[in-house]
Amino acid sequence: MKFGYFDDENQEYVITRPDTPLPWINYLGCQAYFGIISNTAGGYSFYRDARLRRVTRYRYNNVPHDFGGRYIYLRDNESGEFWSPSWQPTRHDLENYTCRHGMGYTVIGSRYQGITAHTNYFVPLDENLEIWQLTVTNQRSERATLSIFSSLEFCLWDAQDDATNFQRNFSIGQVEIEDGVIYHKAEYRERRDHFAYFACSDKVEAFDTQRDALVGPYRSWEKPLAIECGRLTDSVAHGWAPIGAHQVDVKLAPGESRQIIFVLGYHENPRDQKFDPPDSQIINKRTLKPVIAKYRDAAKVDAAFQNLRQYWKDVLGILQVDTPDVHTNRMVNIWNAYQCMATFNMSRSASFYESGIGRGLGFRDSNQDLLGFVHMVPARARERILDLAATQLPTGGAYHQYQPLTKRGNNDVGSNFNDDPHWLIVGVAAYLKETGDVSILDEPVPYDNQPGSEQPLFEHLQRSFQYTLDRLGPHGLPLIGRADWNDCLNLNCFSDTPGQSFQTTTNKEGKVAESVFIAGLFVLAGRELADIAERRGLAEEAESYRAKAAKMESTIHEHGWDREWFLRAYDDFGRKVGSRECNEGKIFIETQGFCVLAGVGLEDGRAAKSLESVSKHLATEHGIILQQPAYSRYYLELGEISSYPPGYKENAGIFCHNNPWVMIAETRLGNGDRAHDYYSRINPSARESISELHRCEPYVYAQMIAGRDAPTHGEAKNSWLTGTAAWNYYAVTQWILGIRTSYEGLQISPVIPKNWAGFKATRLFRGATYHITIERAGEGNHIALEVDGVPIQGDIVPPPEKGRKEVVVKGTLR
Ligand code: BGC
Ligand code: NOJ
Repeated sequence: MKFGYFDDENQEYVITRPDTPLPWINYLGCQAYFGIISNTAGGYSFYRDARLRRVTRYRYNNVPHDFGGRYIYLRDNESGEFWSPSWQPTRHDLENYTCRHGMGYTVIGSRYQGITAHTNYFVPLDENLEIWQLTVTNQRSERATLSIFSSLEFCLWDAQDDATNFQRNFSIGQVEIEDGVIYHKAEYRERRDHFAYFACSDKVEAFDTQRDALVGPYRSWEKPLAIECGRLTDSVAHGWAPIGAHQVDVKLAPGESRQIIFVLGYHENPRDQKFDPPDSQIINKRTLKPVIAKYRDAAKVDAAFQNLRQYWKDVLGILQVDTPDVHTNRMVNIWNAYQCMATFNMSRSASFYESGIGRGLGFRDSNQDLLGFVHMVPARARERILDLAATQLPTGGAYHQYQPLTKRGNNDVGSNFNDDPHWLIVGVAAYLKETGDVSILDEPVPYDNQPGSEQPLFEHLQRSFQYTLDRLGPHGLPLIGRADWNDCLNLNCFSDTPGQSFQTTTNKEGKVAESVFIAGLFVLAGRELADIAERRGLAEEAESYRAKAAKMESTIHEHGWDREWFLRAYDDFGRKVGSRECNEGKIFIETQGFCVLAGVGLEDGRAAKSLESVSKHLATEHGIILQQPAYSRYYLELGEISSYPPGYKENAGIFCHNNPWVMIAETRLGNGDRAHDYYSRINPSARESISELHRCEPYVYAQMIAGRDAPTHGEAKNSWLTGTAAWNYYAVTQWILGIRTSYEGLQISPVIPKNWAGFKATRLFRGATYHITIERAGEGNHIALEVDGVPIQGDIVPPPEKGRKEVVVKGTLR
């Protein structure tokens, strides 16, 4: 069953009934001001940091989940009836309800009693504000007399404190109201230099800023008293819960339309110019007023919306493909790319599953995400890399997370996730291959943000690599530390105390437990680093990195192979994890995918064996399971992985993030059919028809799909902010379609299904647009390329001579 449909031409997903199995959301904003918006207009907004600069309130663990949002009410002043065109909060039976989630905007609307109302919610480029552009049309045959109400709840900035510290917070709320604009200024009197505002393009008949005055005692947003009465109360919040609500009265002739624009924003003043007059307590609004004036003008709002659409057209236009598979096309061309940008903006901080008060930006996560977004925002990717590297510790280790506002490492979670440093190498390599900008390697970057500790970025990469060499275990494999990619394989944790964090509790010295996964990652990172060193003319270093990677490869062969698949780890007792000798957790996906992807075992048949084992033991119709058999009880020596009931999350869930490793691995063995088959099993668009089971949005990946040990096998959870976005994008574009960035040029090396007649693509790469056509002339993966009609050797298209902007590439597969 479906709850909507894809409108690929407009790059939208259109939801046609409001009661989706879960809130189906979108993101507003792509620079500094952001919002989450659900299909019923639920969600919240923030400036840069979802925890510390929360603009509107979100109530955690709410029912429904997305309750609290950007709500508009319409009231028919003749009948006294009122409803919300976005369904929530009043939940009337609406006609023609639609929610169009597009690139950076969401339009929600419906018809009720002959009145249609649609609101376009978006954040204009280069502004710290959001627009709610409402169009109301009277489709009745007689005149309509309506009141229109806007409403939102302000957050008292720190979202964590806002949700918990009531003894203080109920006394600090303050507002100003001027010309119908509501200003929220809690704490502005003291140490904050920022405030929020909520404006309206029309004459404001009345307003409310105190929640209780609007809603009334023992009522909720479903039936606010003042709206029922048809008149807001002009309340001025002192303490309690500051809100923003406007009332606009309109009379519409039959067929008449009206547009009303609401503007919600965040503004900062220089500390010494906070007040106007300076010795008063009144907000200085001088620099803000022109901004508000601008967006009260519908023509300017329309222009801002067109700019936003153009921005996304340009960003997505960098790579467009035309394959025989519609699901591949729409994910690559629209939604997967868009989701990669969401992970760039949010890392793992703010969704309906990441609370925005928790995880900040992950070091590993943000580096991996680069694989998916580097081509779309190379300049910002550069900045991100330098920010991440600046949190690196002098040992080469990394803070597991950092806070986006301060850009400092997060001390609470700390370090010693021993895979972390290598992701910096992987991320930088992706950036270099995309841009060719080797100057980044010379950028001076501090360690742990300490002034004076600056060293070239290249040295950071060297220290990342060295970090593992300094931490080898009894078998010569990398020590795992707190965890590797699998945050839940906590082999040094041994926690038996409820509530302790699996990630930060360490009860063992950490000198025994080893990770075969980090070994695979080390091989990959070593080869990447060698390539980078070569480009710096450091032939000897390159040689030594290659030798170390090769040595690790033989260590994997010797101690990391389990007859038919790669082992996963050794625990603190030196016992195998992910071996046929184990009772549970005999085989894990991570090492099969990642070792083969890194090239381990390609020559001696182990790679093929390993992938056969994946297909035999882990692959299901809904994707590839993390491990089997699932852990049926808690194992002190394994940690969080065994804390989950079987089939969920890291305990034998389909953890979609690692499925593309197997897809890439399959392409390395030339199995395009299998690679694309695995791709399709978790492709959200291909799963749209089972939305009732899948439950999450059909247009973005979720982190996890319940595995076959779970009662709800096939049900997805935790959509949007997951490494799944970048890795799937990378796997399908660079390995299956094979349009791969390299130092020498654009490599074209598809490993596509046998029954594909070919495909077309355009790719903007280092300033030139490549028009690529691939045709199948046989069943294999051997490619012959013609560039501008001239055959070339090999599969790498060299950069065109300076000034040439278009390159035509024709590839024939045999
Ligand atoms: C989750 C992991 C996550 C970790 C760190 C665990 O509870 O299962 O997926 O990476 O927490 O936040
Ligand atoms: C989610 C985390 O964000 C990611 O870093 C980790 O690799 C996976 N969970 C697996 O545990």
